[in-house]
Amino acid sequence: MLLGVNIDHVATLRQVRGTSYPDPVAAAAIAEMAGASGITAHLREDRRHIQDRDIELLMQTVKTKVNLEMAVAESVLDRALALKPHCACLVPERREELTTEGGLDVRGSFKRVRNAVTALQGNGTVVSLFIEPDAAQIAAAAKTGAAFIELHTGSFANAATEADRARELARLVKAAVAARKAGLRVNAGHGLHYHNVALLHRVPHLEELNIGHAIIARAVFAGLDQAVRDMVALIQ
Ligand code: PXP
Repeated sequence: MLLGVNIDHVATLRQVRGTSYPDPVAAAAIAEMAGASGITAHLREDRRHIQDRDIELLMQTVKTKVNLEMAVAESVLDRALALKPHCACLVPERREELTTEGGLDVRGSFKRVRNAVTALQGNGTVVSLFIEPDAAQIAAAAKTGAAFIELHTGSFANAATEADRARELARLVKAAVAARKAGLRVNAGHGLHYHNVALLHRVPHLEELNIGHAIIARAVFAGLDQAVRDMVALIQ
């Protein structure tokens, strides 16, 4: 398994003070040197953390790949088509949420999602759909032509008891098997940290984990280089 480092929270720290630091573009360079296989950033419609300038500079400086998280909304779709990131992960987005809540309803908004996938992939961007580990969503995702899904690991990460965690892990295993069978490649992410990530070794077919908050939180004490190295060691 590979590690994509989400740098949104570096931008959050910058935006709360309206300063030019800390720079998520510098964070991306450090994360890559420490072993990240890709850099993930969410260009939200309200631009609350990552700015257009960040993605433009990441496109010029990242040596691995830029994975742009984005809503299926016309304004960001236009930006993504112009920016041509290596990968895009389509996510649901609500302005008042603290972080991405739940997976994309591919089944319920099939045409809109499929059209976005077609436009992005036709433009050279590999598309992933951020979905719950749910059979109906996986079947719909496969029909859009997207290359990847990213399984939402939030319910697994938030499980309050061992029994709940085991049940959520079993859901992820089942979903990964179904996705592979449907011809999809599989990533995962959300809420993963240093104490729950090792359990994901039990989920087959996972290629890459996208992790942000836990890494940036550890970086406050250990430094970003060490925080990324620690996570890479756990997932490899
Ligand atoms: N993957 C997706 C699609 C996300 O929306 C996020 C949160 O921005 C993450 C991964 C990373 O989640 P976390 O910050 O909890 O590690």
